[in-house]
Amino acid sequence: MITGGAGYIGSHTAKYLANLGLEPVVIDDLRTGHREAVRWGPLVECDIADADAVRGVFERYRPEAVIHFAASAYVGESMGRPSEYFRNNVVGTLSLLDSMRASGVNTIVFSSSCAIYGQPKELPLTEATPARPVNPYGESKLFVERALEWYGRAYGLRWAALRYFNAAGTDPEGELGETHNPETHLIPLAIQAALGKAPELSIYGDDYPTADGSAVRDYVHVSDLASAHHAALEHLLAHGEGGAFNLGTGRGYSVFEVVQAVEAATGRAVPARVVPRRAGDPPVLVADALRAKKVLGWEPRHSAIEEIMRSACAWFAR
Ligand SMILES: NC(=O)c1ccc[n+]([C@@H]2O[C@H](COP(=O)([O-])OP(=O)(O)OC[C@H]3O[C@@H](n4cnc5c(N)ncnc54)[C@H](O)[C@@H]3O)[C@@H](O)[C@H]2O)c1
Repeated sequence: MITGGAGYIGSHTAKYLANLGLEPVVIDDLRTGHREAVRWGPLVECDIADADAVRGVFERYRPEAVIHFAASAYVGESMGRPSEYFRNNVVGTLSLLDSMRASGVNTIVFSSSCAIYGQPKELPLTEATPARPVNPYGESKLFVERALEWYGRAYGLRWAALRYFNAAGTDPEGELGETHNPETHLIPLAIQAALGKAPELSIYGDDYPTADGSAVRDYVHVSDLASAHHAALEHLLAHGEGGAFNLGTGRGYSVFEVVQAVEAATGRAVPARVVPRRAGDPPVLVADALRAKKVLGWEPRHSAIEEIMRSACAWFAR
């Protein structure tokens, strides 16, 4: 079962699993997802917090495991709406976990985030780096990780929390894309600005202590995230050791470098303007993903910035 399978990363993962011969059953209430992105298995339209409906899905489809993407996922928005973020991401997830227990499903791969690290003092970030979130979104993800740990100890839940850095790129076959509403992610905004489909790009701060002054992030292709979910699932189902795993490339790109990569891929200038930093944005977030490599055998294969741009630009151009 894939919660949030009508969203960006969930739909790419559903396609990936279906290509391997699995049947992904999607639960999504379409609050930010897209019906047309669910094509590789059934869609059950419901809220993860609707325990009766979710248990009905477990009874009907008898899934082996859950991959849990459904969440409210805008860092900036979470600052003004903590109640909504804790209710959906924390209360909703606890309800899902209890529905799993009631239905005898005890394996889950959870979408966590590098947002749990907050403003780290040391780089690159390993899973042992202290988690000190600086926004309700990151706090909600960390709470769920802790709940998973305790559910594991008390109820035998088998779990993996995949801490993605910045998801980017789209399905290389062009069947799926990245559509957030409102769009807040840098690469889609920069491409749309280049194509004249969005206003000029706001660059939040050029006075960070980085090589060119703009913030640096670790971009990982959504196809690589999809393969990581499969690797984690197989690992847990084979009774491998769970826990948290960073998913990133270990190579950071600054905002100005991303803009240059978009210009190279589109052949057009990105109209952009530097504006003040956003509160809570750390200067650099770069992953050490060695644990995912050692334990899950996972490595990013499609996350070169050129490949990310090629797939994303093709999607937005179309
Ligand atoms: N995009 C990134 O760079 C990134 C980075 C780190 C972590 N994540 C996490 O990955 C997951 C997927 O992110 P995304 O970018 O694909 O977001 P998305 O908004 O495209 O997908 C989320 C999906 O969950 C559904 N949903 C939300 N609340 C629900 C609920 N209560 N019941 C049923 N369905 C619900 C939405 O309709 C949507 O289809 C999220 O948990 C997010 O926090 C994303």
